[in-house]
Amino acid sequence: MQTKKAENPDLSKAVSIGNGTWWVGSGGKSFLSRNSYFREFKGSEKVVNLLIDPGPPLDFDQLNQKVTSIVGGLGKVNMIFANHQDPDVVGCLPYLAKINPNAYFLASEDTWRLVRLFGLNSKYFRAVERFKDGRAVLPSGHQIHFIATPFCHFRGAVMLYDPDTRILFSGDLLGGIASPGLFAGIDNWIGIKAFHQLYMPSNAALRLAVQKIRQLDPAPVMIAPQHGGILEGELIETFLERLENLQVGLDIITSLHDQLPLLLDAVNEILDAGRQLLGEDRVAEIMRAFEVDGTYPAFFTLTRSGRVQEIRGEPFETIETMVKILYRSLDERQKNLLTARILKILLDRNLPPFDLLLQQEAGPEFELSEAEF
Ligand SMILES: [Fe+2]
Ligand SMILES: [Fe+2]
Repeated sequence: MQTKKAENPDLSKAVSIGNGTWWVGSGGKSFLSRNSYFREFKGSEKVVNLLIDPGPPLDFDQLNQKVTSIVGGLGKVNMIFANHQDPDVVGCLPYLAKINPNAYFLASEDTWRLVRLFGLNSKYFRAVERFKDGRAVLPSGHQIHFIATPFCHFRGAVMLYDPDTRILFSGDLLGGIASPGLFAGIDNWIGIKAFHQLYMPSNAALRLAVQKIRQLDPAPVMIAPQHGGILEGELIETFLERLENLQVGLDIITSLHDQLPLLLDAVNEILDAGRQLLGEDRVAEIMRAFEVDGTYPAFFTLTRSGRVQEIRGEPFETIETMVKILYRSLDERQKNLLTARILKILLDRNLPPFDLLLQQEAGPEFELSEAEF
C-alpha cells in the first residue's frame, strides 16, 4: 500500500488519493482500465469501510490484494456502492456477497433491479433515492451524497460525493480510454472524448450531469471516474466545459445520418488508395491497430475482405486518425499523392475535407499520442 500521493504510483498496489481514500483498481495495462475505490470512514466509535464500483471478476484478485493491504481483508468491507450495473462495475459482487454477507449495497433502484439477478439478498440493499435530499449519514457520523446522472450512461446511474474529502466518484462520466497514468493531464481529453462519443447517449444527458456537478457545495477538488485518469484542480472545469459542448452517441448518429453511407464509401476508397501505395499487408496491419485489446470496441468493423462496414465514435475524427497513421508510413511524395486523392474522394461526395488535409500546406506535425488514440 502506498500512503503518500506519488507522481507515478505503482499501480500494482493500492494508491492513496486523499484522506482515508485509496484507488484499488485494475492497473493501467489495458485500453479500458477499471478504477475501483476504497474509503475508510473513521468515526469516534464506528468505522465504515466503503468499496466504490468494485469491478469485474477479472480484477477480483487485484481488488482483494489491494483492499487487504489497507484494511486487512475484503471481509472488513461493510458497504458497497455501485454507480450502475455494468459487469465492469459490479461483476465481482457475488464473491463479495459471499465473503461478507452482511455488507450493505447502495445503488439506485434501477441498478438494483438488475444487480439482484446475481441472487443477492435484498435485506442488505439500500436504495439511494430513499435518503432525504440524497444524503446519507453513516454510522461513523460522516455524510455521503448521491447525485443521479440519468442516461450517463445508464438511466439509473448515480454518482457518489464525499463532501469531507471533496472527491466525486463519477462512474463512467468523465471516464476515458488509453489513460497513460492514474492522474489525468490535458492530453487525457482525447480518450475521454472518444469514450463519451461512443458510450454516452446524448449531449442533453451530459449537460444535465455537468450542471449537477457545478451545483455541488463544496465544489469537488477531485473527480474519480470508473475508467481512465483521475481529474484534479483546473482540469475539472476545463473538461466539464468541453463535455457540455460535446456531441455524442445519438447526436452524432442523427446529425450524420445522410452522410454516413457516403463516409463509408469514402473510407473504403481511401483505404484502396492506401493499399496502392503501401500494399495490402501494411494497410491490414494499420487497421488492426484500431481493434485495440478487446476491452473496448474496434473503431472500424471490417468484412473478411477488409472493407469497412461500420465506424464507431465520431466518424470524421476516426477516419482522420486512420489517415494520420497511413501518412506515417509514407514519404513526402506519397503523402502528397494520397492527400490529393483523399481531397477528391471527399469532394466528389460533397463531404467536408478533414482539418488534417487543409493543414498540409503548412507541413503538419503529427502528435503520436493522438494518432494512437
Ligand atoms: Fe457502464
Ligand atoms: Fe464502465
